[in-house]
Amino acid sequence: MIRSILFVCLGNICRSPTAEAVFSQKAIGQGRSDLRIDSAGTGAWHVGNPPDQRATHHAKLRGYDLSPLRARAVDPTDFEHFDLILAMDQQNFVDLVRAAPKNSKAKIELFLNYEQSTTTDVPDPYYGGDQGFENVLDLIEAASDGLLKTLKES
Ligand code: 4NP
Repeated sequence: MIRSILFVCLGNICRSPTAEAVFSQKAIGQGRSDLRIDSAGTGAWHVGNPPDQRATHHAKLRGYDLSPLRARAVDPTDFEHFDLILAMDQQNFVDLVRAAPKNSKAKIELFLNYEQSTTTDVPDPYYGGDQGFENVLDLIEAASDGLLKTLKES
């Protein structure tokens, strides 16, 4: 039974806070306010910072509020406290599998396993333009719907 989900990217200022906000809003909309949802980064450069202004702006255009979120780094205890840890890209996935303690029971997966296309990665939008942030939202909305459907069926 999945009761808690951690979304993970590199900096925890673009993709994973977007996933946290989008998935949380969709989960609440489907009556799943029981799920515990959080996000973190495999890197620690931005710890304590709010999400990237571009991520916040593009999310707001679709009705998601990133403004209360603050970046944090993945912690070893996350592997005890979360049932499902979802990586935004393959590098995040490899880094998470390496960081997991031997006795970790958390399930580590690519978030886009829950999205229909064969795309594996939510591409890092940090060094790109507006379209990159819109693409992140498209992929995250689709994968969030897919994940909620899977949770409902299981
Ligand atoms: P994120 O994007 O992993 O989606 O939060 C990035 C944010 C910052 C950096 C890289 C990716 N950085 O190199 O500082």
